[in-house]
Amino acid sequence: MNDLPESQFPETSMVTLQQHIMGQQRYHPTATGEFSWLLSGLTQATKIISAKVRRAGLVDILGATGNENIQGEVVQKLDIFANEILMKCLSYRGNVGILASEENENPIILHDSGAAGRYIVLFDPLDGSSNIDCNMPIGTIFSVLERQNTGFGPRDSMADILQPGLKQRAAGYVIYGSSTILVYTTGQGVHMFTLDPASGAFLLSRENMKIPEDGLIYSVNESNYTRFDSDVQEYLVKIKKSEKPRYNSRYVGALVADFHRTLLKGGIFMYPSTSDAPKGKLRMLYECSPMAFLAEQAGGMATDGKQSILEKIPGALHERSPLFIGSKNQVEEALSFTNKTK
Ligand code: AHG
Ligand code: MN
Ligand code: MN
Repeated sequence: MNDLPESQFPETSMVTLQQHIMGQQRYHPTATGEFSWLLSGLTQATKIISAKVRRAGLVDILGATGNENIQGEVVQKLDIFANEILMKCLSYRGNVGILASEENENPIILHDSGAAGRYIVLFDPLDGSSNIDCNMPIGTIFSVLERQNTGFGPRDSMADILQPGLKQRAAGYVIYGSSTILVYTTGQGVHMFTLDPASGAFLLSRENMKIPEDGLIYSVNESNYTRFDSDVQEYLVKIKKSEKPRYNSRYVGALVADFHRTLLKGGIFMYPSTSDAPKGKLRMLYECSPMAFLAEQAGGMATDGKQSILEKIPGALHERSPLFIGSKNQVEEALSFTNKTK
């Protein structure tokens, strides 16, 4: 364990994610280390997924036929592969009681009584899957909750899962882009690590990240424009007509990538509700909530257009929510359109 307070890590030192997570335990004096053990399960899985993503484009060249590749393994869709790896790496961690994934209709209950299985891990194993075919960035998003009732009697697992984002113990994502990057928070700032392919270690690349208070990039799927509420349309017209400042537009179509850019450069990402998707598209528990936790820890904001994302109590595992997230000033401006009293 590295005993240095985080601000005192020498600039040239190579701090691994493992060391950093252990260092964060100083904020939790009663920590037993089991939380670090859980997070190491997540990082183990994402390293395996990253390696698979790097080889995905080679599948054709290496001669995969039908459903089998040359090693005789069944060729799987990358999102199913990612899901299975995360399930495997996390289910061996005795302190994980429930796993819930975008790819599974129901949560997987690993421990339903006794003191084991204190944590709930929710994840989007492969975010931005439509980007896979064209070599664009994709990622994994995760959120960690703690079970509320830890007695020996039967537990209400769904009630444990449907907690507001404010209760998250940790959240983060891994982006498989030009490099593999992991960003996480446990409520003590937002920290970024880059995977060193040579050593296989995630190395600290930015500590205590802050979203710029103002940012001039807006990010939205504008093909939905005619299906947005009139207040969202008005907001978009306003920022497009603005000369001082002048906005620019970027949209990758993978939340991890669009959020990562927003975290670094500021601005606003939005996926509003539409007439055919009144609750929006993105999922509360493993897309909106973890990104909202990261955004707020980095000094930004996240709202559904009316209410803070972190205060919303989800009604179902796969519930959706509109999302406006990013720089404080841009999200506040969006809110001045979407939350005006009519
Ligand atoms: P997933 O690949 O996990 O299903 O998520 C896709 C999501 C999200 O990553 C992205 O922000 C959004 O879908 C893009 O949707 P549109 O194609 O409708 O713009
Ligand atoms: Mn997704
Ligand atoms: Mn997905």
